[in-house]
Amino acid sequence: MSISKLQIQRIRNISAIQFEPVPGINIISGENGSGKTSILEAINLLGLTRSFRTSKARHLVQNDQASAVVFASIDPMAQGLKQSLGVERPVEGEARIRYEGQDIDLSTLAELIPLQVINSDTFLLLEGSPAVRRQFLDWGVFHADKTFIQLWRGFRRVLKQRNTLLKCGKIDNQLRQVWDREFVAFADQLTRLRREYLSLLKPEFEAVVSQLLEGMKVELGFTAGWDKKRPLDEVLAVNFERDLRQGFTGSGPQRADLRLKVDGHSAAERLSRGQKKLVVSALKLAQGALFQRMNSRPCIYLIDDLPSELDAHHGELFCKVLEQSSNQCFITCVDASALRAQWQPQTEKATFRIADGSIVEPM
Ligand SMILES: Nc1ncnc2c1ncn2[C@@H]1O[C@H](COP(=O)(O)OP(=O)(O)OP(=O)(O)O)[C@@H](O)[C@H]1O
Ligand SMILES: [Mg+2]
Repeated sequence: MSISKLQIQRIRNISAIQFEPVPGINIISGENGSGKTSILEAINLLGLTRSFRTSKARHLVQNDQASAVVFASIDPMAQGLKQSLGVERPVEGEARIRYEGQDIDLSTLAELIPLQVINSDTFLLLEGSPAVRRQFLDWGVFHADKTFIQLWRGFRRVLKQRNTLLKCGKIDNQLRQVWDREFVAFADQLTRLRREYLSLLKPEFEAVVSQLLEGMKVELGFTAGWDKKRPLDEVLAVNFERDLRQGFTGSGPQRADLRLKVDGHSAAERLSRGQKKLVVSALKLAQGALFQRMNSRPCIYLIDDLPSELDAHHGELFCKVLEQSSNQCFITCVDASALRAQWQPQTEKATFRIADGSIVEPM
């Protein structure tokens, strides 16, 4: 997947810009507040109809404008095609997605545009709540298995219904058993897909970690969301009174988590800031490598302020991993010279400088 032409309109300080990225490395440089992150945000809008910085469209859409728009020529299967894709996000109401002249829905769009973001929020993969790690894991499972999205929706529906009944405080035993059977059936299938995906991700992750953090071993573990020594139906039955008191279901895939450990200790507690950046980036890069292996097409990476937190040596290692992949990368930095010397001469790359929301020079 790559973008060969991008038009961005009415996003933050960008009124209207157009540029032609290369399929490899695209570096976007400029001063603070010039609009670098806004370009990445625009590409995120193209792939997911939303920003990664805000959930409120009125902040993303330029002041006094009714909607933000991104148009692109894309090549989803890396076959040399130019297909048209446009996403409009109004301040009020739903986003509109047009692909080759047709309206499409969000999950079709997400399948079309495999996007990975590495920015300061990516630290949440180590430091944030389990929900962040589940979202990361499920991105991979979604792209790895066509049945996942239906399963996931089915599971959310049953979980919601079970929790509604728990909140009412009255469920007779027979009704509980009916709901629990359905809950367990979805839970077991979801968990099997998550485990299968992780067993494929682990070797990819270890390979990237060994490139980025030479000599460091980071273990990637998984907890399914309930006591693994017992089947889930038994756990639900034993914990039923507690669930009833709390008004929600305390065990199941909605509590799954990833565990990252270094020398047997929590990576979040032990690693330095730069090391954390490299570990969370390795997770995302491993996911892209696995995606490429399974789907025979690359991802798009949005990497905000690549040099921050990294010394020159680790910045170089990071760039090396990026140029060895066939992903299309959009990388921002304040000073382009920080990334100038990092690349092999054969790497296809383009540099764009932005000032006050305009591209001042493709270099
Ligand atoms: N809704 C909006 N309408 C107009 N301008 C906005 C809006 N939201 C933010 N801005 C401005 O747009 C610019 C966007 O900055 P952006 O975050 O893209 O900068 P950046 O180049 O990534 O900077 P930094 O190097 O500090 O990360 C800022 O100057 C900001 O004040
Ligand atoms: Mg920025």
